[in-house]
Amino acid sequence: PNPPTLFTPIKIRDVTFQNRIWVAPMCTYSAKDGFLTDFHFQHLSAFSFRGASLTIIEATSVLPNGGITPQDSGLWSDAQIAPIRRIADFVHSQGQKLGIQLAHAGRKASTLAPWLVGRGESDLATEDVGGWPADVMGPSAIPWGKGYATPREMTAQDIKDLINGFRDAAKRAVEAGVDVIEIHAAHGYLFCSWMSPISNKRTDQYGGSFENRIRLLLETIKAVREVIPSGMPLLVRVSSTEWMENSGEPESWDVESTIRLAKLLPALGVDLLDVSSGGNHEKQVIPRHNVDYQVDIAARIRAELLEAGIKGLLIGAVGLITEAEAAKSIVENGKEGPRDQVEIENERGVKTKADIVLVARQFLREPEWVFRVAYKLGVEVKWPIQYHRGQFRKDGEL
Ligand code: FNR
Repeated sequence: PNPPTLFTPIKIRDVTFQNRIWVAPMCTYSAKDGFLTDFHFQHLSAFSFRGASLTIIEATSVLPNGGITPQDSGLWSDAQIAPIRRIADFVHSQGQKLGIQLAHAGRKASTLAPWLVGRGESDLATEDVGGWPADVMGPSAIPWGKGYATPREMTAQDIKDLINGFRDAAKRAVEAGVDVIEIHAAHGYLFCSWMSPISNKRTDQYGGSFENRIRLLLETIKAVREVIPSGMPLLVRVSSTEWMENSGEPESWDVESTIRLAKLLPALGVDLLDVSSGGNHEKQVIPRHNVDYQVDIAARIRAELLEAGIKGLLIGAVGLITEAEAAKSIVENGKEGPRDQVEIENERGVKTKADIVLVARQFLREPEWVFRVAYKLGVEVKWPIQYHRGQFRKDGEL
């Protein structure tokens, strides 16, 4: 039988992914001065070793003041390339791909790691624990919430430094052997806070209208695309809505805004929109009672792009995906055909909810999730030869 679309390869630019299951970026707050450690090596290798076709390194700050915590991953110096290259080499030895999420935490920077939160008076990381509350920056001098630093309103020089930071970090990622770059424009971090009219109150060409609020992101995308190989996929993760429609605010970033933005991305060389949501405001109201709440937004964006005749942007769905059948149905395009030879196609233009399934927490629970999904769907996938005898077998055969 033909394997489900989930387990067919997909080629984006020059990079071929063995299946449609990717590990979403997950901060581990375990870096040292931005350098990835052995923890990251084993954490990230574990997924690609067990069938994930792309593993994306956690939010990695492009500037020293862009970490969520002092323990965030960083790529603001050439010295930080080596530990990433070590991981890339291992991932490639397993026939899989490595991505990196380039980020700046903006006004949500310099906080404590989650396991330290709630212990002291505030969750801010002060200077004595390696934080930089006086150097937190954002579009406007509005703090994210109680206990967060009041950001300085970014100057023209800050804007230049930020764009250069993304460009230089992208070059370093290429040098490290990374296959895919994702720009983090979600969850209330820097770009997300610039895109929202609630957090961006600027009166220059970067604030006010929709076009002005997305300007910084678009300029950064251009700078990154210019320095990475033309064969390298570029992804952007957004908060598709900040869930503030019922907040009483006259205007907020919503799904319509995301669709407007998405239509501009193919021309800038963005290949995939990774559809997340929320995180920009403490008063957000998220409809978590519906496990598909975020996948449904991805599906809507994909459908509206197709309707508008825009096929150049793939869509990634993420959020609460834990079951084999759910993952399968999100990307299933019903395409038949011989699968005895590796069939590599880009099904842009075919109706599905999304093109790629991204999964975070289920991989923490079950690093072998890809193998379990394959087994449940009756698909044979390659296990590492060293693990051959542990392979799931039909009828529980030992
Ligand atoms: C995350 N998430 C996240 N998102 C992101 O864009 N960059 C990041 O570095 C992180 N870090 C992170 C750490 C941890 C421990 C978790 C659990 C989550 C969000 C993540 O990528 C994903 O979008 C959400 O977790 C929803 O997907 P799941 O977990 O329901 O599959």
